[in-house]
Amino acid sequence: MTAKILDGNALAQKLRADFKTRATVLTAQGMRPGLAVILVGDDPASQVYVRNKVNACLQAGIHSEKIGYPPDVDQRTVLDKIAELNADPRIHGILVQLPLPRHFDSDAVLEAISPTKDVDGFHAENVGALMQGNPRFIPCTPYGVMKFFADAGIELKGKEAVVLGRSNIVGKPMAMLLMQASATVTVCHSQTRDLAFHTRRADILVAALGKAKFVTAEMVKPGAVVIDVGINRLPDGKLCGDVDFGPVSEIAAAITPVPGGVGPMTITMLLANTLEAAEREAGR
Ligand code: GUN
Repeated sequence: MTAKILDGNALAQKLRADFKTRATVLTAQGMRPGLAVILVGDDPASQVYVRNKVNACLQAGIHSEKIGYPPDVDQRTVLDKIAELNADPRIHGILVQLPLPRHFDSDAVLEAISPTKDVDGFHAENVGALMQGNPRFIPCTPYGVMKFFADAGIELKGKEAVVLGRSNIVGKPMAMLLMQASATVTVCHSQTRDLAFHTRRADILVAALGKAKFVTAEMVKPGAVVIDVGINRLPDGKLCGDVDFGPVSEIAAAITPVPGGVGPMTITMLLANTLEAAEREAGR
């Protein structure tokens, strides 16, 4: 079997088709949607991600501001900025790019964002709402992954879904969404014994552990749907995912490539969450 390639660029384009119209309608109502992105430090990967987010906003007619700080900025300065943005009517979404430098208390920073502007869905109140099955904002990466399933008509009900990685950004919310879609979910992590035992049972396999080409063909059940959330840089400078794409794509039913799979969808769902935040504000 040769896998169907789940094309993130194509799906992103399809979903973004009406974003500009939604932004125009809001702008005409005096509510131009706005996103503020805070970046602390000079990590090159984070800089690229933030630039891509800001550019995507521009293309969709969403106002965006990047607020950059040097790596040694004190937490108080960032918290004060967040308070200012919480009160700013031009801003509907606030995102603090992670990871933050070690001297930061990341939880305290995320909790400082108003839950109604928390377009990443990382605030404890929004995590709780998601867990209760009543989400306000769904974290962008797992939200994008769910769109792949919906678009490709991939049934989740009753399926064995295995998530590799237990991060707050991807693994945990991903597991929650799959469970809510009535899959049977297993979450594996660095301490899991016999990981391949679990992955080989998976009808749906989501890899989000940050290890280049970690998932090999021997670990995948023939006919599985494989979603690769990893973005790793190889010594030659090329990007690759957590999945060994070539061999796995020969046995999977469907697979996302890296680049061009989950990445464009993460940004798309950030735009969707920002538009939703502004539409809720406009509807008040
Ligand atoms: N760092 C890696 N992924 C993300 C994300 O989805 N949101 C934020 N804020 N930081 C990240």
